[in-house]
Amino acid sequence: MAELNIALVTGSAGLIGAEAVRCLSRKGFRVVGIDNDMRRRFFGDDASTDPVRRDLQATLANYEHHAIDVRDQIAIENLFERHGSDIELIIHTAAQPSHDWAASAPHVDFTVNATGTLNLLEATRKHCPKASFVFTSTNKVYGDTPNRLPLVELESRWEIEDNHPFFEHGIDESMSVDQTKHSLFGVSKLAADSMVQEYGRYFGMNTVCFRGGCLTGPGHCGAQLHGFLSYLVKCAITGHPYTVYGYKGKQVRDNIHANDLVNMFWHYHLNPRPGEVYNAGGGRQSNCSVWEAIAACEERTGNSMDITLSDKNRIGDHIWYVSDTRKFQAHYPKWSYHYDFRSIMDEMFALASNSIFPPLLIHPQQDVPSRDPINQPWNSNIS
Ligand SMILES: NC(=O)c1ccc[n+]([C@@H]2O[C@H](COP(=O)([O-])OP(=O)(O)OC[C@H]3O[C@@H](n4cnc5c(N)ncnc54)[C@H](O)[C@@H]3O)[C@@H](O)[C@H]2O)c1
Repeated sequence: MAELNIALVTGSAGLIGAEAVRCLSRKGFRVVGIDNDMRRRFFGDDASTDPVRRDLQATLANYEHHAIDVRDQIAIENLFERHGSDIELIIHTAAQPSHDWAASAPHVDFTVNATGTLNLLEATRKHCPKASFVFTSTNKVYGDTPNRLPLVELESRWEIEDNHPFFEHGIDESMSVDQTKHSLFGVSKLAADSMVQEYGRYFGMNTVCFRGGCLTGPGHCGAQLHGFLSYLVKCAITGHPYTVYGYKGKQVRDNIHANDLVNMFWHYHLNPRPGEVYNAGGGRQSNCSVWEAIAACEERTGNSMDITLSDKNRIGDHIWYVSDTRKFQAHYPKWSYHYDFRSIMDEMFALASNSIFPPLLIHPQQDVPSRDPINQPWNSNIS
């Protein structure tokens, strides 16, 4: 019998990684996952993705897990060498994903996000150069430039002026990534994003960057510093207090369900275009302000949430961000959204009480990253 082709997923126990693993496993791939549960080290025990890793290993016969650190060049190299050109698709989601946390340990943030990506690109070039390489980038590559758009304050949200070209469909890929405040996280992701593009342009490899808005879904191990909707829903259900940082709680995020995003990856893989860049968020059909998200939670629980409004915004935080996904839709017209904001919230609430994830052990909220910087060298077998 012919060997199954391999899909390699980094961050395989995280929100997007696990969704990709399940999707590709259903499609008949042998899936090789890389995840060292560094999310627990970034954000604490509540945010550990280890239960997801256990579930993947218990339920998917064609899933193989490696607790490798993407910074470990030799371990990455060895894994790619072992599977070689059987690797048909790489989905790289492993990351330090929080802009607030990055400032507490810049070396860790940069080496995980930028060097880790370079390690994977180089291993791909050497061992499976024809594979598709999908990178989960971020809208933070645009820094705080979106905050210079002409915005108007409405009752529950900030909005862009209705005569602006971005009003109808959101922000497109023409926005500059230069001369703006990114946060250290935004810079480490931009370094990776540029390198991913370069491997497409310089080496002709099938690389692509998806610049995510707010990626979400019931599979998120939400923490105060990352996974806004997931964490908000957990607070709504447990009655834990929630603090909104700045902009009067009217900042707007567009939300895309993990399943819709992974489906984008799949469409790209079916017909890859080297070095492409796509904005990927919920767009005009799935977005909310923080107040609107709180209202949606209260509507579903029937209880008022315990909200504190801090007048201090997170540094460089976007006031209004809605992704224009029309470039992707033009290149891949068979892709479409399955979820909008309402159906995402419905699903998160429906599954919250019947989840594979451990109950939330919420710690008091803090203004600064709650974990000590992790400056020790990488370790391939962190558990
Ligand atoms: N969630 C969002 O709102 C959002 C928005 C824009 C971009 N992104 C990007 O999308 C990607 C996926 O996001 P997510 O929400 O699924 O993140 P996540 O934190 O849920 O998953 C990332 C996984 O990577 C693992 N990981 C972290 N560092 C690692 C390392 N050094 N070696 C091996 N594994 C490591 C973590 O343990 C975690 O399980 C990230 O690259 C993130 O920057 C996320």
